[in-house]
Amino acid sequence: MPMSPQDVIQNLGELPPLPQVATRVIRLSANSDTSSDDLQNLIRMDQALSAQVLRIANSAMFGRVREVTTLTQAILTLGFATTRSVVLASSVKNLYTRGPVGLQERVLWEHALVTAITGSAFAKAMGFSTMEEVFLAGLMHDIGKCVMALKFPEAYGALLRRINGEEGDPIGMELDAFGFDHTMVGEALLRSWNIAEGVEAAVRWHHDPLHAAAQHRRQVAAVALGNQMAIDLQVGVGMPDALAGATWEAMDILQLDDSSYQVHRTTALRALEQDKALLTDF
Ligand SMILES: [Fe+2]
Ligand SMILES: [Fe+2]
Repeated sequence: MPMSPQDVIQNLGELPPLPQVATRVIRLSANSDTSSDDLQNLIRMDQALSAQVLRIANSAMFGRVREVTTLTQAILTLGFATTRSVVLASSVKNLYTRGPVGLQERVLWEHALVTAITGSAFAKAMGFSTMEEVFLAGLMHDIGKCVMALKFPEAYGALLRRINGEEGDPIGMELDAFGFDHTMVGEALLRSWNIAEGVEAAVRWHHDPLHAAAQHRRQVAAVALGNQMAIDLQVGVGMPDALAGATWEAMDILQLDDSSYQVHRTTALRALEQDKALLTDF
């Protein structure tokens, strides 16, 4: 019997569940009364996370004289939104560093971060109220690739190398080789975690946003644009043209014409420049 995406995520002993902290951040963000105190309390409970936030705050302070030594200062330095992004990213990162894919695993992680930063910048520019969900969705969108690399190290590693070197449709190549693609595997994994539905939709439909349920479509489209941006910047595995269909669908959903798309791209690039510390310190 052929394998299903559900079979793939069975017995993934090595893959940790999504840390509670990411779920809590999303819940905190949904609550409009959330203050930076709440966020600070959440961070304080996790020593590794506290250290990470301090490190990134200090690196954002690069060139300034005073060192950031307390969480309060760190959150002030980074700002609420960036701190939240740091928390989400550090809670997801260990999912990306389990596989035996070596170098590619670092590439997948950087790709996830750039997609998250630029995708949520698109979302912000368009006035979404669910930016942090878009950020998390960006971080997770290709998580199925990590699972496939973990489960089929040789075969999927070889496929990733082919996708990187050849023109063509990477989703089609995955379907041909396995009978399913990374979006289906990602969806199966997220379903088992019971995470925000919008995040799950983005993982499943970022290559085909028009297929997402209507209430998630705009969010999925923002992730698709972030994905395109990351590949355009050569952060990730694959060729820019392979995403043309998804990007066209996303522009359609968000009612962007060429010139408004370019304006938002410039904004997203600026966000990436601003969050550079996030990229170098993870
Ligand atoms: Fe993808
Ligand atoms: Fe991607």
